[in-house]
Amino acid sequence: MSSARKILVTSALPYANGSIHLGHLLEYIQTDIWVRFQKQRGHQCSYVCADDAHGTAIMLRAEQEGITSQQLIDKVNAEHRADFDRFLVNFDNYYSTHSEENREFSELIYKRLRDAGHIATRNITQMFDPEKGLFLADRFIKGTCPKCKADDQYGDNCEACGATYTPAELINPKSAISGATPVEKESEHYFFKLQDFQSMLTQWTQSGTLHEQIANKLKEWLDAGLHEWDISRDAPYFGFEIPDAPGKYFYVWLDAPIGYMASFKNLCARRDDLEFDDYWNKDSDAELYHFIGKDIINFHALFWPAMLEGADFRKPTAVNAHGFLTVNGQKMSKSRGTFIKAQTFAEFLNPEYLRYYFAAKLTSRPEDLDLSFDDFTARVNSDLIGKVVNIASRCAGFVKKAGGQLSENCAEPAMLQNAVAMGEQIADFYEKREFGRAIRLTMELADIANAYIADKAPWSLAKEEGKEQEVLEICSVGINLFRQLITYLAPVLPVMSQQAAEFLKLDNLDWDSREQLLLGHEINKFKPLMTRVESDKIDAMIEASKEVLAEEQKLKEQPTGPLAEDPISDEIEFDDFAKLDLRVVTIVAAEHVKGADKLIQLTLDLGGESRNVFAGIKSAYKPEDLVGRQTVMVANLKPRKMRFGLSEGMVMAAGPGGEDIFLLTPDQGAQNGMRVK
Ligand code: 2FM
Ligand code: ZN
Repeated sequence: MSSARKILVTSALPYANGSIHLGHLLEYIQTDIWVRFQKQRGHQCSYVCADDAHGTAIMLRAEQEGITSQQLIDKVNAEHRADFDRFLVNFDNYYSTHSEENREFSELIYKRLRDAGHIATRNITQMFDPEKGLFLADRFIKGTCPKCKADDQYGDNCEACGATYTPAELINPKSAISGATPVEKESEHYFFKLQDFQSMLTQWTQSGTLHEQIANKLKEWLDAGLHEWDISRDAPYFGFEIPDAPGKYFYVWLDAPIGYMASFKNLCARRDDLEFDDYWNKDSDAELYHFIGKDIINFHALFWPAMLEGADFRKPTAVNAHGFLTVNGQKMSKSRGTFIKAQTFAEFLNPEYLRYYFAAKLTSRPEDLDLSFDDFTARVNSDLIGKVVNIASRCAGFVKKAGGQLSENCAEPAMLQNAVAMGEQIADFYEKREFGRAIRLTMELADIANAYIADKAPWSLAKEEGKEQEVLEICSVGINLFRQLITYLAPVLPVMSQQAAEFLKLDNLDWDSREQLLLGHEINKFKPLMTRVESDKIDAMIEASKEVLAEEQKLKEQPTGPLAEDPISDEIEFDDFAKLDLRVVTIVAAEHVKGADKLIQLTLDLGGESRNVFAGIKSAYKPEDLVGRQTVMVANLKPRKMRFGLSEGMVMAAGPGGEDIFLLTPDQGAQNGMRVK
């Protein structure tokens, strides 16, 4: 193998105002597999990431939750870390863009760009929310489309007719934050003169740093000519103030990629073997790779290399863009329950199933990947349980019976030599991010191993007199092949491969160590390494994802906010309304629901009949304050199986959410079960 390389790897920084979901995980799992592979090959590889903590959306979200931005980003940081741990995404450092290191680098890069003449300032006119005292990005303005007159369209384009326009052209525009009518207001902005880097970027984007499809797309943009990029936002803004420009802040996308440097700097501070400059100086011989989704390519393959070049730092070796995740052939959907959070997945299914499935389907191309749950179940069960684990479980017992030591000789040297040799091709596929091909080749080897064992049928031989040595030799070949397979799967399945290493009594699964066959080597007792995917767990996970959505939906605290649905939904007919059986009921018991952030379990008396209902009202009521009081419920709602039990109806509530959910009738006395209409 060639000498150790110095490699720095990043994944895109997730925003600090939302949960990690399966779409995110595609990227983190892809990157983590690649990093684990590089480490297994003996390279000095560091994997850094951070929360993307700045911007208006985070500031508004914190406000909605009634906490400070700092409190929000701390809370989300802890959640993100827990999710990454669950999915075995092993960052060398996970940080935040709201850090001192990031402030320093952002200021340094900005000053170098400014001093080299790459920053311009000029006044621009934007929409301003006079009630909130806030400039409004286009997505925070809604109004009537000037072309087709469709209501409730965003400030830059109409979803109904596809027209594009400026927010000033919208008819009857409203701030999506306060509902106020925005006014036009002028202010000074700072711009990065991207066009200064036109020729460098034309060359850099075509020099093997990007997938061909991406490079071609960028060529179109480059041919059209680059423009200045607005890098400032006016106060109030959660971010870093621009040096010498009071009240002006760096736009979140300016300091986000600088967060890669800051996270690495923070790592270097606690690692003697890593020098920041070795990795970021212009003449660095280290490799730098960014893994991202194809939607943010312009930031990583235009703005970012230009910023680095202008500030005298090295540029990335490559930017690896992947496609989007679809589930069961469609866009992830909250109502279908396929918008699945990392935490929800891990509650029901082994995260290594997902790692394996993604690996089996990933290529180096920026194409979309479909998670089909039928295919997922079949593939994990057939490949991992049916092929890989099966080899060890079939052979281990016979080895134990013979004393727990593998044979001194190898009965099938050519077969093992071939298995070791296949490792070179598999490594090449991992290196090129052709994980699907690496997995296919590994499974070919598993097929060879299974065919060999089936053919030799040691379980039949074991019944014959004097065949003990032959049985041991066959099973030792099987265990040695299993060891090769586990070595090749280790980047994908860290927990299972660790357990397999313990079974094999191996200190490590370094890629090259597989060349040394296990002869006369003692092994441990075999313990099951993985259980089968059960499809009822998948169904339960999808149901739980629908509930998570329902809880979130009910508790949206600011109905006019950018994250909220329309305050008035589509009209229904009177007949639809008449179907509702609304009843006055008494709450006879109310309890917290273990594991649910927002639910209270209610026992309702409908006048003789008792119902169990889960209500998302924990933010507004203590259970003990509810008992004995009356409310109105929908009594004929079809019972819903929730993660916590069956919910037999729904209680009616009004209000914006949070502490203001109004559920109870002010005066008592109505008869239980009385119809409301
Ligand atoms: O698109 C996003 O989710 C961004 N938060 C990614 C930032 S990546 C980097 F530039 F920081
Ligand atoms: Zn329109």
